[in-house]
Amino acid sequence: MVVGIIGSGTMGIGIAQVAATSGCDVFLFDANSTQTEKALLNLQKTLDQLVGKQKISLEKSRMIFSRIKCCTELSDFIDCDLVIEAIIENKEIKTKVFQNLEEIVSDQCIISSNTSSISITSLSSELKNPERFIGIHFFNPAPLMPLVEIIPGLLTEKKLARKIYSLMESWGKIPVIAKDVPGFIVNRIARPFYGEALRIAEENIATPEQIDDAMRTLGNFRMGPFELMDLIGIDVNFSVTKTVYTDYFYDPKYKPSLLQQRMAEAKLLGRKTGKGFYDYSENAEKPTPEKDGELYQTIFDRIISMLINEAVEAKRLGIANDEDLELAMQKGVNYPKGLLAWGFEIGYGKISETLQKLYEEYQEERYRQSPLLRGMEN
Ligand SMILES: NC(=O)c1ccc[n+]([C@@H]2O[C@H](COP(=O)([O-])OP(=O)(O)OC[C@H]3O[C@@H](n4cnc5c(N)ncnc54)[C@H](O)[C@@H]3O)[C@@H](O)[C@H]2O)c1
Repeated sequence: MVVGIIGSGTMGIGIAQVAATSGCDVFLFDANSTQTEKALLNLQKTLDQLVGKQKISLEKSRMIFSRIKCCTELSDFIDCDLVIEAIIENKEIKTKVFQNLEEIVSDQCIISSNTSSISITSLSSELKNPERFIGIHFFNPAPLMPLVEIIPGLLTEKKLARKIYSLMESWGKIPVIAKDVPGFIVNRIARPFYGEALRIAEENIATPEQIDDAMRTLGNFRMGPFELMDLIGIDVNFSVTKTVYTDYFYDPKYKPSLLQQRMAEAKLLGRKTGKGFYDYSENAEKPTPEKDGELYQTIFDRIISMLINEAVEAKRLGIANDEDLELAMQKGVNYPKGLLAWGFEIGYGKISETLQKLYEEYQEERYRQSPLLRGMEN
């Protein structure tokens, strides 16, 4: 199979590695050729490390690298069977690229986008043949994260999602099929993990280190929300929240946090700038949280109830089937359990009670329950 990848940034080069490892011939194009050179140099280093750790043979590493061909013109994509676009997150720029691409590739070529937040339907509607267009959403780092969300738009040909599903399986990925809604599965359901944590900190109910500690110790999350925001980049996380909020017509459930906005304004963006909610400079010490059993339980109950409510609402709306909803959160963001199973374990009645209390306390729609939640009481 011949795969074209547009954009050789963080995601593009990772996807190129995945496709080449699975035996595809890859054409890689970026508007900035220096970026492609840099990306290929880094890929060579990664492959050398894998050889060093005996994860792959030297022969295999050479084969992977030789399968990736760097292109200087999009017209080199003429023989592609599938093109995956991974350029800047801008609808107008992506649309222009797709329109140029349609003039080059054959009618059979599948065109896809790795967008995190732009509607697949809106991107496809600008094409001459929108039926061949689909979302294929990898997670960062693409070679390591197993999840791939496959998103057919309203105009996508019905059988295409299953075709891509099988292809992703053959690439060693765990695919799930998602509806074309803001944030798809993972970026939508995960919003309260950050949003509720920020609110608890903003209201001085607990410190970031206490919230992180509570979620790690009581929830078994690998990282707390603030540690994770620092890793993702506070600006990136804030921009996803803003997009989901505006694309859901300002649903108060997804309202962004002022605290996060101020952090982004101050360029306290997390690990990449050396300081975010935590200090990453050389001699900095991570603050020790003041342990408080009762407070920790309140924090955990509040965040987990919001997450489970979001998963139940996604189930109600048919954003994905139950199995895919559970897989997506475990394989896309490393949650220790699927949220629907977790709700059953805690008791949906208790989740509903926690949300009801918050709803009464704050008198805010943010805490409204999914109509399905009460029906799921066990
Ligand atoms: N970074 C993540 O964690 C992540 C995860 C999943 C999806 N995504 C999505 O993947 C896409 C790429 O994100 P990224 O983080 O790899 O970005 P990036 O900034 O690392 O790379 C983007 C690349 O696109 C190139 N580019 C820009 N305009 C172009 C054009 N018109 N033609 C060709 N190349 C062009 C740039 O030179 C750059 O090298 C975005 O849509 C993003 O939303 C990102």
